[in-house]
Amino acid sequence: MKVGGLDYRTIWMENNAVFFIEQNLLPFEFRIAKVTSYAGCCDAIRDMSIRGAGAIGAMAGFAMALAFTEAPVKDLMEFVRKAKAEIESTRPTARNLFYAVEKVFGAGIRLESEAMTEARSIADKDAMDSKAIGEVGNALIRDGYSILTHCNAGWLAFVDYGTALSPIYLAHESGKQVFVYVDETRPRSQGARLTAWELHNSGIPHAVIPDNAAAHLMSRGKISLVITGADRIAANGDTANKIGTLEKAIAAREFDIPFYIAAPSSTFDLQCKSGDDIIIENRNEEEVLYQEGADKEGNLHRIRVCSPGSHAINPAFDVTPARFITGIITEKGVIEPTEISIRNTINH
Ligand code: MRU
Repeated sequence: MKVGGLDYRTIWMENNAVFFIEQNLLPFEFRIAKVTSYAGCCDAIRDMSIRGAGAIGAMAGFAMALAFTEAPVKDLMEFVRKAKAEIESTRPTARNLFYAVEKVFGAGIRLESEAMTEARSIADKDAMDSKAIGEVGNALIRDGYSILTHCNAGWLAFVDYGTALSPIYLAHESGKQVFVYVDETRPRSQGARLTAWELHNSGIPHAVIPDNAAAHLMSRGKISLVITGADRIAANGDTANKIGTLEKAIAAREFDIPFYIAAPSSTFDLQCKSGDDIIIENRNEEEVLYQEGADKEGNLHRIRVCSPGSHAINPAFDVTPARFITGIITEKGVIEPTEISIRNTINH
């Protein structure tokens, strides 16, 4: 994706250093950060300097590969096993993180030098799959469509292109008129901060809407289609995504609006029978109690927005039952959210 005329990926590796776009500063500052140890990668995932299912998958893969390079020769197995457990404990919900760690760990066990090759290929595949999702999803978008999206499942959430936004980029590039309604996505505002920044950068007409405005807009016929990303998809099609997705899906069903999930094969978890088995991350209450923004000079400030003395509850994801999902846009085509189609299409 281009920023200021230059091509960027969200995350990449050079020699033994991982470079990534520091997402906690966007859209107010564009900064490339660097980490050189698996522990540094874990910190970046934990504090959400890098976030989004595919991007944390790529970071987790690089972290696992770095652990193989850091391991002392005589205690290699103990070191990499401990590192694997630590990387897997950073964030629980996005399947891509576990998918990448398992693959890189397996490759490193077979041959140490293979860990890095595997991590790079997972990142490259993430970008390729996202592009393919764009091509598949573009076919669902007609000229003049207004599309609702939630959170950020654009290129910042993956290595490049993204999932929910990838079809929108391609539709725009192919000359279709599209308009995007962007849920602000409290408490961390990934929609207002990241999706809006991406769309603005690409010259795609859009507006940020309050998180509670979508049903009203649907009721007035303003939304043609909903596309969101996914953090983990169970074998029966139940899908975990950013908190607030479920209520959009229920509203879309009420108003007969197609509701699509866009995700690569690496987000499917066939060991999870249904959404009930998906672990939902609970984050710090401070993310709800305080909000962050910039003044006119671009300096970041954090202010309390809830009544002093009150506490908050902060589940980061919810699960949309398969019955509310029209289809899942994958790099292999649009698949029905049923166990049979999912098992027939996704094989890992
Ligand atoms: O908590 P985040 O920002 O890492 O959440 C993940 C997401 O970006 C969303 O849930 C997204 O819609 C799907 S993952 C690209």
